[in-house]
Amino acid sequence: MDRIFSGIQPSGEIHIGNYVGAIRNWVRLVDRYDCVYCVVDYHAITIEYEVALMQKRILDTATILVASGLTPDKCIVVVQSHVPEHTELAWIFNCVTPIGELERMTQFKEKAKQHRQNINMGLLDYPVLQAADILIYKAGYVPVGEDQIQHVELSREIARKFNVRFGDTFPEPKVLLSDAPRILGTDGNAKMSKSLNNAIGLLDPPEAIREKLRTAATCPHRQRRSDPGHPEHCNIFTMHQAFSKPDQIASIDRHCRTAGIGCIECKEILFKNMVEEIGPIQDRVREIHKRPQYMIEVLKSGADRCKAIVTEVMDEVRTKIGVKSEWMS
Ligand code: TYM
Repeated sequence: MDRIFSGIQPSGEIHIGNYVGAIRNWVRLVDRYDCVYCVVDYHAITIEYEVALMQKRILDTATILVASGLTPDKCIVVVQSHVPEHTELAWIFNCVTPIGELERMTQFKEKAKQHRQNINMGLLDYPVLQAADILIYKAGYVPVGEDQIQHVELSREIARKFNVRFGDTFPEPKVLLSDAPRILGTDGNAKMSKSLNNAIGLLDPPEAIREKLRTAATCPHRQRRSDPGHPEHCNIFTMHQAFSKPDQIASIDRHCRTAGIGCIECKEILFKNMVEEIGPIQDRVREIHKRPQYMIEVLKSGADRCKAIVTEVMDEVRTKIGVKSEWMS
């Protein structure tokens, strides 16, 4: 079976953009691929963070993955720092990655603007660690949202550069996009994001979700109830496409264009569908919280299973780059 790898940062609350853009797709892939899903804590330390909260964030993020259906019988869930070979391979990849490639990454430029006080090497090197995450498992496919396409393309390039220099070792991984690869925030402007105040949390209680939807931006051309709307310009409609049934989506599209349905009613339908889908995940999160030992077991076994894979790959890599000393093993 081909292998899949993807990752999520434990940097704040997981939102419905993460869910429909990535996690839900990850669940759909587990039957067809050998999947490794990773909580990438070393990526999350590239920006300022609260040290005391990190452990909780790592566990909460992993819990959401498991509660969404990524159980250990179906795939591997692992924490990045539990498999330090990721960072070792990132160092080796540093030595085949041109700095210019990193400086032109959109996410680096955005983050450098957002965190002017702390433009550290980790922020620039971020995509190299991401390439190591993927390639250390020789993954062929990487299911992500649209914002990660550029990073995955860079991993292809890093794989190429390594292979040319040291001999064929890594496959060039391909992006797999979900059916909702880019969800905007409730402001209707920017991508829904943990760092902007525009996210609907996957664990938000129903009333909080209803309130966020109530005030969320809709089609900017529709000022009054009687104005016809343009679903293609409405983020609420994009969310319908992610959460509602095909016949509902078609009906909303039709009725919005003719002002047959108002935004309030349209949001209420979305609210119901959203809660219907994420409610059971929230219930499972509560169940898992009652058994804290369970997540510890999941993550320990995840690390053991990954260790078996990466030990072999790193042995091959060290040999190929000429640093493996036979007398050390
Ligand atoms: P992160 O933690 O920002 O996001 C996790 C996943 O959620 C997707 N996503 C979205 N999809 C649709 N609409 C949105 N508004 C939205 N916001 C986030 C992201 O595209 C991502 O798939 N660099 C990665 C983590 C990472 C990784 C990796 C991913 C580290 N190593 C190796 C793949 C492979 C990141 O910051 O994801």
